[in-house]
Amino acid sequence: MKTPAENSAFDLAPFRARRERLLARMAALGGGIAVLPTAPEYARNRDTHYPFRFDSYFHYLSGFGEPEAVVVLVADDNPRSILFCRAKDDEREIWDGYRFGPDAARERFGFDEAWTIGDFDGRFADLLANRPTLWCGLGYDADWDARLMRALNTVRANTRAGAVPPHSIRDVRAELDEMRLIKDESELAVMRRAGAISGDAHRRAMAATRPGRFEYEIEAELLHAFRRAGSQSPAYPSIVASGANACVLHYIGNGCRLADGELLLIDAGCELDGYASDITRSFPVNGRFSAAQRDVYQLVLAAQSAAKDAIFPGANWNEPHDAAVRVLAGGLIDLKLLAGSLDAVIEQGLYRRFYMHRTGHWLGRDVHDAGEYKRDGEWRTLEPGMVLTVEPGCYIRAAEDVPEAFWNIGVRIEDDAVVSAGGCEFITDTAPRSVEEIEAVMRDAQERDPHIGEAAVREGRNAAA
Ligand code: GLY
Ligand code: MN
Ligand code: MN
Repeated sequence: MKTPAENSAFDLAPFRARRERLLARMAALGGGIAVLPTAPEYARNRDTHYPFRFDSYFHYLSGFGEPEAVVVLVADDNPRSILFCRAKDDEREIWDGYRFGPDAARERFGFDEAWTIGDFDGRFADLLANRPTLWCGLGYDADWDARLMRALNTVRANTRAGAVPPHSIRDVRAELDEMRLIKDESELAVMRRAGAISGDAHRRAMAATRPGRFEYEIEAELLHAFRRAGSQSPAYPSIVASGANACVLHYIGNGCRLADGELLLIDAGCELDGYASDITRSFPVNGRFSAAQRDVYQLVLAAQSAAKDAIFPGANWNEPHDAAVRVLAGGLIDLKLLAGSLDAVIEQGLYRRFYMHRTGHWLGRDVHDAGEYKRDGEWRTLEPGMVLTVEPGCYIRAAEDVPEAFWNIGVRIEDDAVVSAGGCEFITDTAPRSVEEIEAVMRDAQERDPHIGEAAVREGRNAAA
């Protein structure tokens, strides 16, 4: 059997450094014991499970990808990190594959101790006694909450033997959220690669798009590009939305046929080694923007550029959004889709008819990543190493007071930005962005393979959804 060790180069240093940082932070706040489980496995139907995805906090501290595992950190005079994981099991490994087991896991992932998960409840209750604080996450998983309470009650049952349960419970995720917000070099390297893979996938999707094909066929091109580059899965369900579907913000049916003259909006990004990328592109199904499509596209692009210029260390979180809204509102007035002064359109929120979401979010292990957006009631200040998306859009539904040329134009342009010393850097530039580049990519593809998609038209295939 091949082991994961043979398949990948693994650097445990960043994971150990994060555990040490959290231990130091706990010590500074009076010490105690932290406990973080990985995610549960969920049944899909009968004896089949959804693909397992580790918990983001757990993996951030451990790098360990197997199910049924827990990290425990003890902040006292002898600070240490402990992993609980599945035991070696020859029979199960024949069916399901390699398991590290505690000994190999301790060595490879750099823990001070490792034990089997079957020992967790007893050992954890012993470790919990006489600690001032339990650092954990509560309210996310009822089974886990109950397990922690049982451990606390085990300590309480031993008070006559001198055991004292923790007097306080603190949210360990709040500490980790702050750490996760600033990405270290190892994280940025993975995120850059994820961004490049996803950008390439969007380019492939553009090249494969033709009138008559189906949204799911284009989704398949994205998946192909993600997996062949080593990504483990999409970071979130891919949105492949043509025509009016592009105005449904979370459309994931992906079952409709692409029609000549429509736009196609794709919001898709891969997950690589636990990190998300998140890209949206909007482009004409036939490869040529109509005048109205081009007008709206250029407007959203200008809004994105204004938002990007507002991202630099010291700017506050909301400034890119305000900058994008200002450009969009002005453009919607120029296109006669809104009436009134710029200030009135902004202050009265009239632009929200066409732009109803915010301009970005933190990005990292989760597509909507950990980290607060406000501190003490104020938008937080951007710092180098933060990663955020920049994703203005404009969604125009069919309506009597809108010229028909604009009906069903849904445009979003989304890139992933790393805040750097001088401003910010987009890490998703492999996805074509300008009108000229998109049209060139699609023209080249049409010339190279003029017949792609004709089979679906010939076969008269029906929508899948
Ligand atoms: N794909 C999710 C988002 O753009 O926020
Ligand atoms: Mn996003
Ligand atoms: Mn997105």
